[in-house]
Amino acid sequence: MERNNNATVCFFDSGIGGLSLLYECVRILPRVDFKYFADNFRVPYGNLTHGELINTVDRIFSEIEKLNPDAAVVACNTVTAQCIDYLRNKYKFEIIGIQPAVKPAAASGSCLVLATPSTADSTSVHRLVEEYGEKRTQVVACPDLAAYIEQNIENLQREGVESFLPAAKADSVVLGCTHYIFAKDIIQNYYNCPVFDGIAGTAARLREKLGIFDHSAPRAQKIGFVGGDIAKNKRIFRLLLTSKEGLSQT
Ligand code: DGL
Repeated sequence: MERNNNATVCFFDSGIGGLSLLYECVRILPRVDFKYFADNFRVPYGNLTHGELINTVDRIFSEIEKLNPDAAVVACNTVTAQCIDYLRNKYKFEIIGIQPAVKPAAASGSCLVLATPSTADSTSVHRLVEEYGEKRTQVVACPDLAAYIEQNIENLQREGVESFLPAAKADSVVLGCTHYIFAKDIIQNYYNCPVFDGIAGTAARLREKLGIFDHSAPRAQKIGFVGGDIAKNKRIFRLLLTSKEGLSQT
């Protein structure tokens, strides 16, 4: 049964990383309002311990709870990997996370998952790889790549991104951090193989959980930004909205 077509969904990422997932959800759910919570000045989350992540995320989720959202999307692989069980136990609204797209990537050969140190270390990602990695999937941490992308998003340089990429050969690469999606073309070119991210799958899961399959005319959506560097998040999101290509990369 279809429900509340004017739902409110809260998004959360450490910084700009979750904006491309937000963009996709705004696109497929044109009658839903969104609020994007970020913590840009504390990027990288991927270098925090489990305890530090729980404390930080709990503070932000208690703000999200006050808005009584229909759902929250953790648009951050690191927080999903380290905190999603804790968050689901504590908060009563629907919480959707993003995970590395290992299953489709590993189906066709050897697979390299690029992730933050915290995601690469997590039990949940080890389990994911065991279950879907076909025994030919390797997870490699890229310390500081997320921070580099966060700080240089308006002028991403090929050599800059490449300096953080591990030398490896694989039949496919999985972007296990939402920040890396902004450097997808550079990463694809570097490894010269298909590159997967979890955007479409996560957006589809949100729509399914909300039970909204209404295709009537869109109304003016409310999209708000809370926390961190609000002006920057708005600016990057506007670029995503206005450019089919996303950000230009040199
Ligand atoms: N964008 C986040 C992720 O998907 C976190 C990046 C960071 O702050 O380290 O893992």
